[in-house]
Amino acid sequence: MMDEFSMQGFNVKRPESGNPFANLEGMPVTTVKANLIGDRKMKVLGICGSPRRHGNTQIMLEKVLEVCEEAGAETEFLFLRDHDIKPCDACETCGRHKKCHIKDDLHLILPKLWAADGIVIGSPVYGMGVSAHTRLLLDRIGGFHAAWMSGQDGKDGPGFTRTVGGAVLAAGRVGGSLAWSSLVAEFSLDQWIIGGAAFGYGWDRGEVLKDQAGMWEAAELGKRMVRMINLVNGGGWESDVRTDTMVL
Ligand SMILES: Cc1cc2nc3c(=O)[nH]c(=O)nc-3n(C[C@H](O)[C@H](O)[C@H](O)COP(=O)(O)O)c2cc1C
Repeated sequence: MMDEFSMQGFNVKRPESGNPFANLEGMPVTTVKANLIGDRKMKVLGICGSPRRHGNTQIMLEKVLEVCEEAGAETEFLFLRDHDIKPCDACETCGRHKKCHIKDDLHLILPKLWAADGIVIGSPVYGMGVSAHTRLLLDRIGGFHAAWMSGQDGKDGPGFTRTVGGAVLAAGRVGGSLAWSSLVAEFSLDQWIIGGAAFGYGWDRGEVLKDQAGMWEAAELGKRMVRMINLVNGGGWESDVRTDTMVL
């Protein structure tokens, strides 16, 4: 049984259980507007660390990007499984020479990372942590490596100090928060601006679509990314237009 209350001018149905996700229908939803950065659109890059195409991580990441695009951002989706990324070999060349000596596809990805205003990294939960594909990327860009490699002419660069980072985790059952801690630890160590996270549940490919709360979190993360990027670039916070339609 539902009763109704008014929130921000909308009549909202309240589930009797008190579970805020028990029935998302009728929840007030805000939409956001992506401000221009100078004369260009903001860029949000989605990086998928699942080896499974059209899996739960991809579905959630695409929802985040869809919301960013609806707000007016430019988006790109990148599958790590399509790239050859080798493990960091701890040679420390990046510290001495401001570049990575390993010849692989990281060099195709790095320019995309530096060009993005926001990056959402999505990983399936594997062994209560992130997937191997995700871990390989984090080790290669983590620590001070990012600041060194983003520099030019032998100088250290800004790394990720102006990058808004979002995390998407798709779990079969348990370990989402442990996997999230790997991402948020890396964001913190490398001085990213932490944008938020979305957690989805489902084991089989596509099952996350049945997780209404997970998909709602993904949509909300898209809005949060846009708001944070606006904020970082001097656009302020309140660029919201409220609607009363639930978007899932
Ligand atoms: C190698 C492997 C390890 C996994 N470990 C976990 C785990 O620790 N906890 C969990 O809840 N699900 C685990 N799962 C299930 C996945 O997290 C789940 O199927 C997820 O939705 C996969 O996302 P994807 O469809 O994007 O690949 C594991 C799956 C695989 C293949």
